Amino acid sequence: MKIAIMGFGTVGSGVKEVLELNRAQIEKKGGEKIEIKYILARREHIPGIPDELITTDFSVIENDPEIELVVEAMGGIHPAYEYIKSCLEKGKHVVSSNKAVVDACGSKLVRTAKEHKCNFYFEASVGGGIPVIRTLYHNYAGENVMEITGILNGTSNFILSKMKDEGSTFADTLKEAQRLGYAEKDPSADVDGFDTSRKTAILLSMSSGMRCRHEDIYTEGIRNISDIDMSYAKEMGYHIRLLGSVETVEDKYFAYVAPIMVGKDDPLYFVNGVYNGIRVVGNCLGNTMLYGKGAGKLPTASAVVSDIIAAARHKDHFQGIGWSEKMIEIEPMGSNAF
Ligand code: HSE
Repeated sequence: MKIAIMGFGTVGSGVKEVLELNRAQIEKKGGEKIEIKYILARREHIPGIPDELITTDFSVIENDPEIELVVEAMGGIHPAYEYIKSCLEKGKHVVSSNKAVVDACGSKLVRTAKEHKCNFYFEASVGGGIPVIRTLYHNYAGENVMEITGILNGTSNFILSKMKDEGSTFADTLKEAQRLGYAEKDPSADVDGFDTSRKTAILLSMSSGMRCRHEDIYTEGIRNISDIDMSYAKEMGYHIRLLGSVETVEDKYFAYVAPIMVGKDDPLYFVNGVYNGIRVVGNCLGNTMLYGKGAGKLPTASAVVSDIIAAARHKDHFQGIGWSEKMIEIEPMGSNAF
């Protein structure tokens, strides 16, 4: 299968690395050889990458009938949405790690994929390397999901953990998170909670089967957490965690994103550093917990590669992961907030 990678930052370059590192088993599991034919980049030369792989022109990719799958790792809504849509309309599978486009346009893109008998996958858009999208779609399909509460942003959890355990400052730790490739280009999405509210909206859409606007979720970030808040939390035996939470009560949906004091009775207490944790409560399953690295090059790229293999396995039909365009109304808070 010939593929193109659009965007060659942390995630895009990680996808190339994972495909090379685990080549033999990826080909065995996907049932065919996966070859990168193009990399869509802003510049014509990238150190260590043969020039013939690089293009700065999207039309080369969309008009090449040999390209069966496109990885979108550009970030942002435009032009990512237009590029993804155009590829799907040409019957090319698309794998995206881009939570902004999945949150804003996921239902439309799923519909486009369905109409053109191809697939739009986005496992890496939430929880980095944690397999949460497929888990919610398949494994919880028979559950009445009553609550999903998670640490969904690796950068803010990294900052809060370092501030508590090492007394590091907010600004220094944010710089370190940027250097390690965890933070967004504009890290305000991380620290002001909007990355978490997008991911929370995607998880709610995934479990409810309906569309949810992240703008409707009450969102507060970690920018105003001070040393004093940290020492109070420490003294009382709590961790401050940036949580994204949705609760379903009868047919009402409650949601918030905010920094919350979490005690040892909650498994999210033990989720430190760049790790993410997602606690899902189902009416039959009870409490379950998904845990793993929520940001960073190889964990996120690993989730993208799992989607590439899924597309290779379901080449000729729409697999159906996603949600409808029916809109959910969000109530301001969950009962477990504050
Ligand atoms: N900036 C994001 C985070 C990257 O820190 O979690 C993964 O979505």
